[in-house]
Amino acid sequence: MKFTRFWLVGLFCAAATAVYVFTAKADEESDKLKKPIRELAAAIAKDPKNKSLAKMAEKIAKMEAAEIDLIMVLFKLRSKGGLGVGDKPDSVKPDGIEQAIIALDRKPPSSTALKENAKAWAQMAYDTAAITKVIYNKHGLNKKKEIETWTKYCKEMEAKAIEFAKACTAKDATPASIQKAARALNNVCLNCHNDFR
Ligand code: HEC
Repeated sequence: MKFTRFWLVGLFCAAATAVYVFTAKADEESDKLKKPIRELAAAIAKDPKNKSLAKMAEKIAKMEAAEIDLIMVLFKLRSKGGLGVGDKPDSVKPDGIEQAIIALDRKPPSSTALKENAKAWAQMAYDTAAITKVIYNKHGLNKKKEIETWTKYCKEMEAKAIEFAKACTAKDATPASIQKAARALNNVCLNCHNDFR
């Protein structure tokens, strides 16, 4: 009896370790994407129509870590392996792209928050556009119709992310204009997750 319990505890520990190692490995893999994604984001911010963007995205898409589940981790909180919002941890809250977009969709920012965070939000929107450029072919789908839907969402996400970035840096930006742009972007996330996640 005692012996069985001992084994069960052992088995539990082994399983817990496996989960822990697996999660840590996933974060490590996602980490490798951060620098090239940020470089691509900076290039998009400079000129969204630049011809070399496709090549940059293609190169990232070929990385071993460029799998849809690992790429999507970049949207999570910085503390959970995501890119985060702003240059320094927790300088802008919430410090994760997905949570930040959801928060701005739900409630317009205060005028103070808008002034303080507009630059960081624009950065996260360009990060989002960069991530989108990498996931166009990361669907693993076979049916033509499904691939078309996936591609449509990607195109929408890229466009809405850039519109959101521009809304953040616009001279006449208002809390309402930021919320509107965040909502349009969040709707694309929700629609694609509804169909494919
Ligand atoms: C073109 C389709 C598509 C779009 C657009 C999309 N996602 Fe995803 N997302 C997915 C899929 C598919 C998964 C599930 C990946 C997996 O685990 O295999 C996912 C998973 C996630 C996860 C979970 C990651 C994890 O490990 O728990 C987060 C966070 C996420 N997406 C955030 C976002 C945000 C934020 C947006 C919009 C800015 C967005 N996604 C737009 C397809 C999409």
